[in-house]
Amino acid sequence: MQISEIKRVACLGGGIIGSSWAIQFAMHGMDVVIRDINDEQLQKSADQMDKSLDTLVEAKAITTQRKSEILAAIRLTTSVEDAVKDVQLVQENGPERLEIKQSILAEAERYLAPDAIYASSTSGLSITDIAAKAAHPERCVGAHPYNPPHLIPLVELTRGEKTSQETVDLVYAFYQSVGKEAVLLKKECPGFISNRLQLALYREMVDLVQRGVCSVKDADKALVYGPGLRWAFLGHFMLMEIGNANGFLGMMKMLQANGNAMLPGMANWTTMPEDWSAFDEGVKEEMASLPDWMGHTDAQCTAYRDRVLIEALKLHRKL
Ligand SMILES: NC(=O)c1ccc[n+]([C@@H]2O[C@H](COP(=O)([O-])OP(=O)(O)OC[C@H]3O[C@@H](n4cnc5c(N)ncnc54)[C@H](O)[C@@H]3O)[C@@H](O)[C@H]2O)c1
Repeated sequence: MQISEIKRVACLGGGIIGSSWAIQFAMHGMDVVIRDINDEQLQKSADQMDKSLDTLVEAKAITTQRKSEILAAIRLTTSVEDAVKDVQLVQENGPERLEIKQSILAEAERYLAPDAIYASSTSGLSITDIAAKAAHPERCVGAHPYNPPHLIPLVELTRGEKTSQETVDLVYAFYQSVGKEAVLLKKECPGFISNRLQLALYREMVDLVQRGVCSVKDADKALVYGPGLRWAFLGHFMLMEIGNANGFLGMMKMLQANGNAMLPGMANWTTMPEDWSAFDEGVKEEMASLPDWMGHTDAQCTAYRDRVLIEALKLHRKL
């Protein structure tokens, strides 16, 4: 199959991730169909998409006319056959359980064209395992988005043991063509790249709080108003390159002694803490102390996050 032939996409599972993927695909010219298990779930998908698109309209990233066009390109169904029978790509977004993912794939394969691509949004399962009983494992690939997929460009692609090179090449080109920034893992790895980076940083933040070095609020503040701002625009390797008169190698030389002094005392625990109650209190205090324009509730902070993301995406020329 050629990339120009991919015109119709099915989102199997229209929850938080499936509904957001649907918007992304429709915004980039795809005809999309969302399949979920009942009308109640489909109504939730419709409501979520409506709200997400309203946020884009309010931020002047799209017009109300464009919102209508995007919604018109997305169809909702409870029938697997109806969803997949004439699509070129499936984006599976079902619950994160291996047996469910395998059964969604088995059901889809009954109606899918043999050369259609099957991509799973799985966050933690192996695509080799998901495709273990597939009739066409060569067309199965992991395509892990970052939430919400219509506002965060990253998609992490993973090939399973039997994924063909043709599938890998095609999905890479496809996601790039629909506004995503694809990374391709050279081998399967739990947590892919992004969640491992996030956990490494998070472990150190938790450890700093546990050791009494700083509060939850100050750990977040140090991140947001320091490295986080830079990381939104350039990667760490690039920042090291431009941050020193002698480039990357000069920066590494400068950091050698500091790094050697810090590393022995840094967090290296290998299981997650079980009691998070002290952190929960800290998070609540932090949320209460935010400026009013950021918000003091989950919903307000989510709206703030999305407004800022949209502005950042404009700077990245993604919107
Ligand atoms: N939420 C995140 O931050 C995030 C980020 C990246 C990847 N993911 C992955 O995306 C996938 C979906 O996560 P989510 O957060 O959207 O979950 P969710 O619970 O919001 O959505 C799952 C949807 O699947 C539907 N479903 C259940 N059985 C189904 C079936 N047999 N066929 C089709 N649909 C079915 C459910 O009704 C529900 O609407 C998971 O694999 C998850 O690991 C989630």
